[in-house]
Formats: sequence, C-alpha cells, structure tokens
Amino acid sequence: MSEIRIGILGAGGMGRTHARHYAKIPEVRLTIYDVEDAAARALADAHGADVARSFEDLLSAVDAVDVCLPTPLHREVVLTTLRAQKPTLCEKPLARTVQECAELVEESERSGVLLMPAQVVRFFPEFSRAHSLVEQGTLGQIAAVRTRRGGGQPKGAGGWFTNPELSGGVFVDLAVHDFDWILWTFGSVERVYAQCLTGKRQDLDYGLATLTLENGALAHVEATWADPGGFRVTFEIAGSEGFVEYDSRMRATLRLATADGSRSESNLAPMDDPYYRQLLAFVRAVKGEEPPPVTALEGARAVAVAEAALESARTGKPVVPARL
Ligand SMILES: NC(=O)c1ccc[n+]([C@@H]2O[C@H](COP(=O)([O-])OP(=O)(O)OC[C@H]3O[C@@H](n4cnc5c(N)ncnc54)[C@H](O)[C@@H]3O)[C@@H](O)[C@H]2O)c1
Repeated sequence: MSEIRIGILGAGGMGRTHARHYAKIPEVRLTIYDVEDAAARALADAHGADVARSFEDLLSAVDAVDVCLPTPLHREVVLTTLRAQKPTLCEKPLARTVQECAELVEESERSGVLLMPAQVVRFFPEFSRAHSLVEQGTLGQIAAVRTRRGGGQPKGAGGWFTNPELSGGVFVDLAVHDFDWILWTFGSVERVYAQCLTGKRQDLDYGLATLTLENGALAHVEATWADPGGFRVTFEIAGSEGFVEYDSRMRATLRLATADGSRSESNLAPMDDPYYRQLLAFVRAVKGEEPPPVTALEGARAVAVAEAALESARTGKPVVPARL
C-alpha cells in the first residue's frame, strides 16, 4: 500500500472533521496548514500529522490538497492548487458564486487535474438510499420533494458565516447540499422561486425555495440558521408508487447535550460515516482507482441553483438557473 500525502488547508470545523476521518485511512499521511498556527499544531498533534509553515510549503510537501477554508477563499486557493498540479477536494460550496465555480471547472478541465467538490450529502446513507429508490423506480413517477436542513447560525473564524457577502447565506452555504442531491437524484431544475432573510437580519437567516424540475416534479427546499434546537435534516419524496421520508431526529436514540448544544449521536459504524466514505472516494480518485463520485461541474451546478434562489428572493420573480 503506497503512502499518499494529503494537505489539509484550514484547521477549523471542517478541517478537524476531515482530519479525524483521514486518520482511519492507513495509507494517508497528513500535513496541515492554517493561518492560526496554534490551530494547525493542535490538530496535527491529535492525529500525528505534520504542520506546514505556509501554503507554499504545504503545496510542495503533498500529493493532493483538501481545502477546508472559508468559502470566499475557495476560488483563489483552488486555482493555485490546480495550477500546481495537485488533485483537490474542495469543501462545498465549490466557490462563492457561479462565475467563480465556472473558472474552477474550466481550470480543472484545462489542466486535467482532478477537482472534487465535497458534496457529502450524497454519502449519507438515507440520502443515497432515497436516490437509489428513485433511480430504481420504486417510488414511480415523482410528483413532489421536500427538504429541510438547518440549526443555529454558525459563526466560523472571524464570524465569516454571518456575513452573506462571504458565506452566501443559507441558500449558498446550506441548501447547496440539497440542491446537489436534487440535481443528482431528479435531474435538471427548470426554474426557482424563492424568499429568504439573507442580508436582512444579522442574527439569523432563513430561506425557502420552490423548484420546478424539468421532469415536471416540484421541490420545496427549506434552509434555516434560525433554529437553536440543534442541527436537523428532513426530506420526503412523493411518487405515484410510494412515499419515503427521513428525519435525522428519528434516527438515533442517543442524544447528547453539552454546553456546545445538543445533537443526536451517530449510530453508524465508523467506516460507514459519510465523511469517511467521501474522503476514501477522494483518495481512490487521486490514486486513479475509481472515478470521482462528484464532479466539479456538478458542484458548480448546485451553486447555480443557489444563486438563482438568491436572485429570485431579491427580485420577487422566478429565475432560471445559469446553464453550465
Ligand atoms: N460539508 C459540511 O458538512 C460542511 C459543514 C460546515 C462547513 N462546511 C464548509 O467548509 C468550509 C470551511 O468551513 P469551517 O466551518 O471549517 O470554517 P471555520 O471558520 O471553522 O474554519 C476555517 C479555518 O480556516 C483558517 N483560515 C482562514 N483563512 C486562512 C488562510 N488564508 N490560510 C489558511 N487558513 C486560513 C481559519 O483560521 C480557520 O481555522 C466552508 O466552505 C464551509 O461552507 C462544510
């Protein structure tokens, strides 16, 4: 088993999650860089990883890069990693705007360097099972889809999540997960009608988007940073032959409450964890063993739906997502 050297950029919330799961892949050797050196060191110490002194040092020390940085940094950093010929996993959203995403897709295609967006929802067992049920025709012809995702408003380093110019707000940061899953499972979106509080309130954010799908079905996507009760995800799919529903609160019977908030404890086996499976898929794609399960273009298309939702909320009119 040959070693593969992965560099994680950013030792914040997602950098920590990714490091924890890479640690379960024996051939991975990790190097971490964060502008906050103490954060990089603490994370490296926890997993026996190396610390890079700069972004450039990290690039020269690794075979592939995993970008866990605030969204507004994705475009510039990913352009640099691709130009350095480093296969790159980039946290969702692929970039802050569809224009920036298009630049990344173009650079990946031009250079032939792998770029995989971390659309982790595809690896959640319930979302992946529902996708298969639709694909196999078990639910018949799909009529309506509803998703809901959210919890309290995250802050992030320096509070970047709370600034919609930086994070994009709930449609770009949160609902982008569901937009990707809907595109993957049900096909293209014809138009979007949406309302949201993004940019209207400092303390919370909420958005509701109605999608008309090209297959004739309707989808209703709700994203919230206004629920202090802890993170919760739900969906339902109604078809001519059946109905399927999911509620993340109903899954686990073990619920943990600490000063950090309350959450359901995962009842998945460690190797079934969606983040682990996503990272393993990236490692296999870097080694050329399997194609990447999510393409950069798909990551960009999810952002195009999010941007259409923002535009609809701004104008009060239905919007056709940018075609990529
Ligand atoms: N897939 C998911 O479930 C999920 C969940 C949360 C966040 N995200 C995404 O992951 C990305 C990171 O989010 P987060 O929650 O980890 O943010 P965060 O603010 O917790 O962490 C970001 C880290 O990047 C560091 N940083 C900032 N600028 C830097 C630079 N120029 N060079 C090096 N390090 C720098 C910060 O010091 C911080 O440690 C975002 O795009 C976010 O949307 C995904």
